[in-house]
Amino acid sequence: MSHDSIDSILHEERLFPPAAPFAAKARIPSAAALAALREKAARDYEGFWADLARSELSWQKPFSRTLDSSDAPHFRWFEDGQLNVSFNCLDRQLAKRRDKAAIIFEGEKGDIRELTYGELHETVCRLANGLKSLGIRRGDRVVIYMPMVPEAVIAMQACARIGAVHSVVFGGFSAESLKDRIEDAGARLLITADGGYRGGKVVELKQAADKALDHGCPTIEKMLVLKRTGHSINWRKERDLWWDDLIKQQSADCAPEWVDSEHPLFLLYTSGSTGKPKGIQHSSAGYLLNAIVTMQWVFDIRDDDIFWCTADVGWVTGHTYVAYGPLATGATVLMYEGAPTVPDPGRFWDMCQRHKTTIFYTAPTAIRALMKFGEDIPGRYDLSSLRLLGTVGEPINPEAWMWYHRVIGRENCPVVDTWWQTETGAHMIAPIPGAVPTKPGSCTQPLPGIEAGIVDEKGNDINEPDKGGYLVIKKPWPSMLRTIWGDDERYRQTYWKKFGGRFYLAGDSARRDKDGYFWIMGRIDDVLNVSGHRLGTMEVESALVAHPRVAEAAVVGRPDDIKGEAIFAFVVLRGARPPGGVDESLTNELRAWVAEQIGPIAKPDDIRFSDNLPKTRSGKIMRRLLRSIARGEAITQDTSTLENEGILRQLRGEE
Ligand code: WTA
Repeated sequence: MSHDSIDSILHEERLFPPAAPFAAKARIPSAAALAALREKAARDYEGFWADLARSELSWQKPFSRTLDSSDAPHFRWFEDGQLNVSFNCLDRQLAKRRDKAAIIFEGEKGDIRELTYGELHETVCRLANGLKSLGIRRGDRVVIYMPMVPEAVIAMQACARIGAVHSVVFGGFSAESLKDRIEDAGARLLITADGGYRGGKVVELKQAADKALDHGCPTIEKMLVLKRTGHSINWRKERDLWWDDLIKQQSADCAPEWVDSEHPLFLLYTSGSTGKPKGIQHSSAGYLLNAIVTMQWVFDIRDDDIFWCTADVGWVTGHTYVAYGPLATGATVLMYEGAPTVPDPGRFWDMCQRHKTTIFYTAPTAIRALMKFGEDIPGRYDLSSLRLLGTVGEPINPEAWMWYHRVIGRENCPVVDTWWQTETGAHMIAPIPGAVPTKPGSCTQPLPGIEAGIVDEKGNDINEPDKGGYLVIKKPWPSMLRTIWGDDERYRQTYWKKFGGRFYLAGDSARRDKDGYFWIMGRIDDVLNVSGHRLGTMEVESALVAHPRVAEAAVVGRPDDIKGEAIFAFVVLRGARPPGGVDESLTNELRAWVAEQIGPIAKPDDIRFSDNLPKTRSGKIMRRLLRSIARGEAITQDTSTLENEGILRQLRGEE
């Protein structure tokens, strides 16, 4: 985000009260109703969550203890209860909604499929039985590497049904990234597809999966392959099997495996500032509870909604608001396989019109990208079915918020800017659309039962309006991460150490305005947010230095109009620096290399070659200096300690 936009945010005075027709029907219809909820949570925090857990989840064995903090920072919620997440999503809908559409799917090429709750339940049961026939048991890890098709959700639900722990790896990640995640999780089974369609191309998932398994992954026993494209692929008879062949002989009944509340439902890998991506471990009951209540509070979900969250199931948003939350609330969820600009930039709006989408949830980067194509594109479509719009993943600039509100929402739809993280499992700070007036660019206020705060270096509350600080969560909440898979020490260090175990450290900085509204300012660590995707600068640096021609690399973010943040890499080569610091073919080679190491989303936008990197006497790379250079800003840092001040000119691209 540029300084101009930060400045305009600081002076944002526009306030959008809940539209009267919306509020009239909303589940939480007024500020007073919301205040009552908050008051209840403040009076009896545990009782507040316990009542919700009893009313919103179906238990096989009811719990008697709500929260156990005796082993903090490991918190256990509803510990002695037992349930099954897939039962809560599917079985309990059958009585009322057997013939209601659970998933409406549209492929990039326009193929449409609808699965009712009855059909979804049946297929999930067949696959669950299939997984059992392969020897997959409670607690086993299953990696899912699939296109955005209903079978991805079916695979997740089938794992949940038998108590297996899934770990979805985004289909845009490379073979190398897939391998790292499989190995870290120690997965026994990989579920993939012969390919998927995205951006007018075929994503070669099976090919990448083969490559990952050729280079490691000794714990994988079988690879289950969904036929999506029908293109020819390599096949290893003793290891690979077709999805259809596995499920066709299976029974459509599969009793759910009852698990403890704390049983891990899934791992999801995400980037941190150091080291390899970390496997965020989520629970069963607590996770599902927040998924459900946020569907109700923030999305105000109703039985006749067509709910469309555009996130891929490879990200947490696709877990909570595609695979679990909508189903657990009996909603109809729209799923789209492809890119927003195929065949043209009207695709999203065309789909909203054709499927009569009522709730649309997407990332600011998509809004900004589509905004560039002008208003007449959405203007061609009937968007009158929409009643609520949402955003997630990165700060939304007021200009994009206003466009979304005006051009897509025709000033009739509340816009909910939802702040949360892979770690939090569900929305934490977000407007309740019938009760909280919104301001463009602010995620407004913490949800009931969520105690967010902004503190200084010592952990003291910052009460002064508009003064930035660390965003923290002060009390445990049901859908919080439980640990980092295989690295509990890193869990303690990353999230709890800074404030001595008192607060959860989110890793974002934020400020609160005079009305108590939260404004997220960005990450405090070396994590980039590129098009709403989290990437560690170190991951990109490690990928670069793995190239034979690269001696050293430093990666920083710079503001980008569409992606939010773009990746700027400073690279020192082995051997001579190219004349003028420019070598287009090597730049392209390095970009392709990073795509292969991590995935296309990690490709540096700019690469600049220099003889050296700016370092302090102790050898630390001066990242702030590089950030200023990448942004084209004046350098305010002290550069007198630089070994070679001449490299400044090289870093700036001046020689
Ligand atoms: C950022 C995505 C501003 C933030 C659900 C957070 C946001 C990181 C918002 C988590 C928002 C997410 N406004 N920033 N509404 N939502 N972020 O784990 O920096 O992929 O820490 O989870 O995205 O990204 P993650």
